Amino acid sequence: MARIVILTGAGISAESGIRTFRASDGLWEEHRIEEVATPEGFARDPVLVQRFYNARRAAAAAAQPNAAHLALAELEADGRHQVLVVTQNVDDLHERAGTQNLIHMHGTLNGALCAACSHRWPAPQEMSAKDPCPACSKPATRPDIVWFGEMPYRMEEIWPALRRADLFVSIGTSGNVYPAAGFVADAMHAGVPTLELNLEPSTGTRMFDEARHGPATQVVPAWVREMLAQG
Ligand code: OAD
Repeated sequence: MARIVILTGAGISAESGIRTFRASDGLWEEHRIEEVATPEGFARDPVLVQRFYNARRAAAAAAQPNAAHLALAELEADGRHQVLVVTQNVDDLHERAGTQNLIHMHGTLNGALCAACSHRWPAPQEMSAKDPCPACSKPATRPDIVWFGEMPYRMEEIWPALRRADLFVSIGTSGNVYPAAGFVADAMHAGVPTLELNLEPSTGTRMFDEARHGPATQVVPAWVREMLAQG
């Protein structure tokens, strides 16, 4: 059974209507990373940060999984490949499409995290930093999102899975944020074949053994059809 590790980024959700980060109309054109995506920004202005993620949560709830999310779920459900999806995305479109073996390495909009005691619980649709933590009662509620300067989740599971994979596929990510941007080099050093599926060449595109460029709703289902035809 071939083991496939798939990294996804904002590009896979773009055609579901969720904005990417680094496009000319992307989120980082309107918001400063230091203000809304760092622990220091949250300490300075929690109201602004909560407003930003409340809007992201509402956008994700209104969106539907697209043909690319569904194709990855189909590849896993088929059962002939061992599929692990590692996503940088904080929306829940992979799980709503049916993907089961999934790691949210940058956290999720559907989670709340206590900045005081690290307790986790399901996020309300509208979150406020004044919400008390159900465990310690401190008003220190933040989104369970990995911010710049913080350690992405479950790396101790991701690295070994990547190194023993038979194929690494990167979908819809610009390759600017580490450690995810380094997965292609890690796979290459471990002798794992690599494939990029992205709208345009990513920062690290030349490192991939193969790259196919086009919208995710076209290139991802086409690749999955090939994999299923091969058996
Ligand atoms: P980016 O916005 O940096 O890159 C999105 C990539 O998707 C670009 O290379 C686009 O060309 C591509 N793309 C856009 N539309 C597409 C489509 N329809 N089909 C296929 N590809 C498409 O987003 P990420 O690489 O995911 O982290 O960003 C990585 C991290 O940076 C995010 O997880 C976030 C951000 O800061 C945190 O907030 C911690």
